Amino acid sequence: MPGFEQVQETVKAIRERCALTPQLALVLGSGLGGLADVVEDSVKLSYSDLSHFPVTTAQSHKGRLVMGFLSGKPVVMMQGRLHYYEGYSMAQVVFPIRVMQALGASTLLVTNAAGGLEPSFKAGDLMLISDHINLFGTNPLLGKNDERFGPRFPDMSDAYDKHLQKLALSTAKNLDIDLKQGVYVGTAGPTFETSAERRFMRVIGGSSVGMSTVPEVIAANHLGMSVLGFSAITNVATGEADQPEDDPDEVVRVAGQIGERLERLVRGVIQAL
Ligand code: HPA
Repeated sequence: MPGFEQVQETVKAIRERCALTPQLALVLGSGLGGLADVVEDSVKLSYSDLSHFPVTTAQSHKGRLVMGFLSGKPVVMMQGRLHYYEGYSMAQVVFPIRVMQALGASTLLVTNAAGGLEPSFKAGDLMLISDHINLFGTNPLLGKNDERFGPRFPDMSDAYDKHLQKLALSTAKNLDIDLKQGVYVGTAGPTFETSAERRFMRVIGGSSVGMSTVPEVIAANHLGMSVLGFSAITNVATGEADQPEDDPDEVVRVAGQIGERLERLVRGVIQAL
């Protein structure tokens, strides 16, 4: 299981290839990876070249850390996220978050593709994540706690930083981007939810649902990072009779359509940081 020593070793290996101290870490969701292409003065490091970084053969070509500048700020970005449903352990899923924090990043910005539980949401909407509900049935911090990462019982009452949320809302307004707000429900996947599960998720307060983000955000809070998150609503997921069938290709297609708007918003927020 990759722990503190492995994080330190990986950080050392990265520092030998890039001296940048990132202020911000970004994790980009499915179909939302376009930002990686506009990082300036970038250094790209394949996960497969970084000791201890989780890789599979499928991930090995596209999975990389991109370091450089976005809107003038030093950043580190994961191009290719690790999903729990792929079979990684929770410790592996959050390993890159710990590495990016150890490189210097004190803020984490996450994006994801998600289904819209909230009946007023449409495919193509953009949602600011105000909070999350963990339905993974597990937690990346289970097991012996390493105090060098953070406390045994981390506070999660401000899991998505309120000041960053305000900044995102005002930036969206300035850019004339419609930004919904709501609670993200995270599940392990890889099945899409049943209609009964989706109606349950609405009842418990969910607005969007997806198969990522929650592990990374828990690890980031454990590390004391400030978190900001956005859901790209790619499909209607109300669990009602008129809900269309789920199609993963459609999810990626709609995420691609939202991508440009989300990129503008993210760049605006980074500029305002
Ligand atoms: N459910 C879970 N994950 C998703 C969805 C969904 O409806 N859409 C995109 N990712």
